[in-house]
Amino acid sequence: MNKDRKLIIAGNWKMNKTVAEALDLVNGLKRELANVKEVDIVVCPPFTALSEVSKAILDSNIRLGAQNMSEHAVGAYTGEIAAVMLKEFSVRYVILGHSERRQYQKESNDLIARKALAAHAAALKPIICIGETLQEREAGRTEAVLEEQLTGSLAGLSPEQMEETILAYEPVWAIGTGRNATSEQAQAAHAFIRRWLSTKFGDTVARRVRIQYGGSVKPSNARELMSQPDVDGALVGGASLEVRSFSDIVKNSI
Ligand code: 13P
Repeated sequence: MNKDRKLIIAGNWKMNKTVAEALDLVNGLKRELANVKEVDIVVCPPFTALSEVSKAILDSNIRLGAQNMSEHAVGAYTGEIAAVMLKEFSVRYVILGHSERRQYQKESNDLIARKALAAHAAALKPIICIGETLQEREAGRTEAVLEEQLTGSLAGLSPEQMEETILAYEPVWAIGTGRNATSEQAQAAHAFIRRWLSTKFGDTVARRVRIQYGGSVKPSNARELMSQPDVDGALVGGASLEVRSFSDIVKNSI
C-alpha cells in the first residue's frame, strides 16, 4: 500500500487477559508478526499485564500501549495510574477517551484534553478516540458530534503535539456489534476529521496525523478499510484477543 503515513494497528484488549493469558497472546503475536515492518504494531493490555508483556516484547517489533491514564502527574488520587508509571514499562502509547470510558466513567472532552497534555508532557503518544452513537448518526449529527469531540479533546495541543497524537474514529454503533462502518462511511468520517485538522493545525500537520478506524475490524474487512486514503490503521477490540485474528488483520492490511 502506498500511503505517506505508516499504518498503525493497535489491539485494545480492554478488561481481558490475566498475565498468563496475556503472555500466551503476545508470544504468539511475536512469532506470527516477526517479519512485519510495514505496520506499527501496538498491544494495549490491562495495567496488570504491562510489566510482563513489556519484558516479553523486548527486541520485537511490537510496541506497548496502555488503555487509560490519570490527568495528574502524581499525588493523592486513589486507584489512578500516572504517566511516569506507564513509562517504567516502556509504554509508548495511551488510549484516551475510549467510548466505553466516556459512557461508563463519564469522561468529558475537557478531561480527555487534560489527559492528552499530561501524556505529551511524559512523551507518551495519546490515541484519542472519538465517534458518534447510532442515534446521533441517524439524526444526521455525525459531523457535528465529531467536531465537538475534536474541539474539546484536542484543546490546548500545540501543532507539534498534534503531530505526535493518533486519532481513532470509532463509531459507537460499530464497537463490539459485528457491524463495521462501511469503507465509504469510514473514509467520509476520516476525511472530515482531516479537513478539521487542517483548519485548526494547518495542512502539514493534517497530512501527518494518523487516523485509525475502530469498530468490528476483522481479518475479512481489514484490507478494504485500510485501503481507504484517509484510514491509517485500526484500533481492534474483540479480534485482538486471539493470535490468529489479530495477526491476520495486520497481514491483510499490508
Ligand atoms: P471491537 O473491535 O470489539 O468492535 O472494539 C473496537 C474498540 O472499541 C477498540 O477500541
